[in-house]
Amino acid sequence: MKNFFLTAIAAFCLAVPSVQAADTGHIELPDIEWSFDGPFGTYDRAALQRGFQVYKQVCSACHSMDHLAYRNLSALGYNDDEIKAIAADYSRMDGPDDEGEMFERPMRPSDNFKNPYANEKQARYANNGALPPDMSLITKARVGGANYLYGLLTGYVEPPEGFEISEGQHYNAVMAGHKIAMAAPLSDDVVAYEDGSPTTVDQYARDVSHFLMWAAEPKMEDRKRMGVMVILFLLAFAGIMYKVKKKIWADVKK
Ligand code: HEC
Repeated sequence: MKNFFLTAIAAFCLAVPSVQAADTGHIELPDIEWSFDGPFGTYDRAALQRGFQVYKQVCSACHSMDHLAYRNLSALGYNDDEIKAIAADYSRMDGPDDEGEMFERPMRPSDNFKNPYANEKQARYANNGALPPDMSLITKARVGGANYLYGLLTGYVEPPEGFEISEGQHYNAVMAGHKIAMAAPLSDDVVAYEDGSPTTVDQYARDVSHFLMWAAEPKMEDRKRMGVMVILFLLAFAGIMYKVKKKIWADVKK
């Protein structure tokens, strides 16, 4: 009986599903060590801030993040004044005012991230017909998540001999079919970091992937903490129940 109990607990612990899914057919994805990996993983605030900086200065020219509001950036460690200043760099239409006119005003922390395009047609027109997808949930929308993102951003390599690539397309090592309409968005030294981190494509790709992982799963840390608490509770509860069972059956056995 005791053995059965221990086996059951062990089986339960092992059955906690692994979040890693790095299989995209024949394409080998890089396997980066992220601080958010594993049951105790957490986000790295400094990496998130750098990643946001990369998104803001590079990716946001083409990619929206509709699900995020500026106030959500408090989770990255920015204070209220910093968030106000970040939001106020952008403007949006609002209204109507008392005279019935629409007007443009600076963004506020409660506003959602600015969309670079007014509508899908404008987005396609600006990108040779290709649509830059919204980045809010992109790490959830692609197999491999942050590893895929990192692989994509660092995957602009020379195509193999004889690989046909048409006008407006670029070779990418991890993109399905190896053709993507997005030109390599990153190059060394395009974003100036203030914390002394390397200003390389590799570092930018890590940081922006980290940021996009957080954007898609901002409550991951709470979820993991809760998972650990639940397991601890179940273990303690199993122990108590075992003691109770022994006590109840003690007389019977005698
Ligand atoms: C000049 C505009 C432009 C910039 C800047 C840009 N992208 Fe893109 N991106 C595109 C377009 C266009 C597509 C659609 C490509 C396609 O469908 O072939 C795309 C597609 C993507 C995809 C989806 C790939 C897939 O698997 O379907 C990801 C992820 C992505 N971009 C991430 C980024 C990140 C991160 C940055 C900033 C470092 C960035 N992009 C900067 C235009 C841009």
